[in-house]
Amino acid sequence: MSAAELLRLSGCEVELHKPLANMSTLGVGGTAEIYAEPASQESAAAVISAARRIGIPIHVLGGGSNVIFPDGLLEGLLLSSRGMSGIVWHEDDDCVRAEVQAGVSLPMLTAESARRGLSGLEFAFGIPGTVGGALAGNAGAGGRSIGERVLSVTSIEPDDSIAERRSGEFSYSYRSFPLAAEGRFFLSCVVSLERASAESIESETERFRAARANQPKGMRSAGCSFKNPPGDSAGRLLDVCGCKGMSRGGAAVSERHANFIVNCGGASASDVIFLMEECRRRVFERTGISLESEIKIFSAD
Ligand code: EPU
Repeated sequence: MSAAELLRLSGCEVELHKPLANMSTLGVGGTAEIYAEPASQESAAAVISAARRIGIPIHVLGGGSNVIFPDGLLEGLLLSSRGMSGIVWHEDDDCVRAEVQAGVSLPMLTAESARRGLSGLEFAFGIPGTVGGALAGNAGAGGRSIGERVLSVTSIEPDDSIAERRSGEFSYSYRSFPLAAEGRFFLSCVVSLERASAESIESETERFRAARANQPKGMRSAGCSFKNPPGDSAGRLLDVCGCKGMSRGGAAVSERHANFIVNCGGASASDVIFLMEECRRRVFERTGISLESEIKIFSAD
C-alpha cells in the first residue's frame, strides 16, 4: 500500500501532488507529495500518528504567510491546520477569554476582537496568517507579541498524546516559541483580552498601522526576511549595505523596505533563497552581524 493509502485509513482526507505556490503569500514552490487539512482534533491526531508509524516526514503549515516552499517536490506529508477554524468566546466579565483553533485567521481574530470592544490584539493589525502560525513564530510588532496574550496552548505532542500547557509552562521570546520547534502540532490556544472603548482600540490600532507605512504594499512577500538583531534593525542594516533593489529571476529586495523580498512575478524559491544568502553575506562582511532568517524554509528532510 502507498503512504497516501495508509494515511487515508486514518480517516483523514489527503491530496496527492498539491500545488504549493498559491498556498503561500510569497507565491513560490512546487508540489507537496501528500497534503492534508484535517477538520478536527481527532482527525489531525489520527493522520499524524499514521504518518509517524509509516515514517514519512511531517511538515506543519499555518497560513503560509511566513514560508518558502521548495521549487520541486516537498516529500512526505504537509499538514495544515486551516481546516480547524472555530472560536468560542467567554465574555462573562471584564477579562475576556477566546478559545481559538489554530486555523483561525489572525486578521479575522484581530478584527472580531475589535468589533466586540476587546483590546489586546491591536499590535496584530496587518499581520497575515493563522493563529497557529502566529504562535509558531511568536508573531508580533512594536515590542508586543501573541505569546503575551496566550493563557494556554493545546498541541499534539511528539508521542501522539494531546497536551494543554498553561502560561508559565511554555516560554516565548522575540519571534520565537520553542514549543513549536520541538515537533508539536498546535490545535488551539486560549487568548486573554480586555474590554476597552472603541476609541482606544482604534487609536492603538492606528499606532501599529502607521508603523507599517514603510512596508511594500500589494506585492507578494513572506514578510520580513530576517529577525532584528539585538539593538538594531535588519531593514536598516540591509539598506546601508546596499541591498535594496538587488534582484534575481523574478525576486527582488524591496525598494521600500530592505527587509522584504518581493515576488515581482515568476520568482522561484531558489531566487528568493539566493537573495537572502546574498543579503546575509553583505551584512556580515560589512558589519560582522549574522542575520537570522525569520522565514520558515521548507525542505524535504
Ligand atoms: N530602515 C531603513 N531602511 C529600510 C528599512 C528600515 O533605514 O529599508 C530603518 C527605518 O527607517 C527605522 C528602522 O530601520 O529607523 C526600523 O524600521 P521599521 O520601523 O520599518 O521596523 P523594522 O524593525 O524593520 C519591525 C518588524 C516588523 C513590524 C515593524 C512595525 C521585525 C524583523 N520586523 O520592522 O515585522 O511590522 O517593526 O512594527 O521584527 C515581520 O516580522 O515580518 C514584520 C514585518
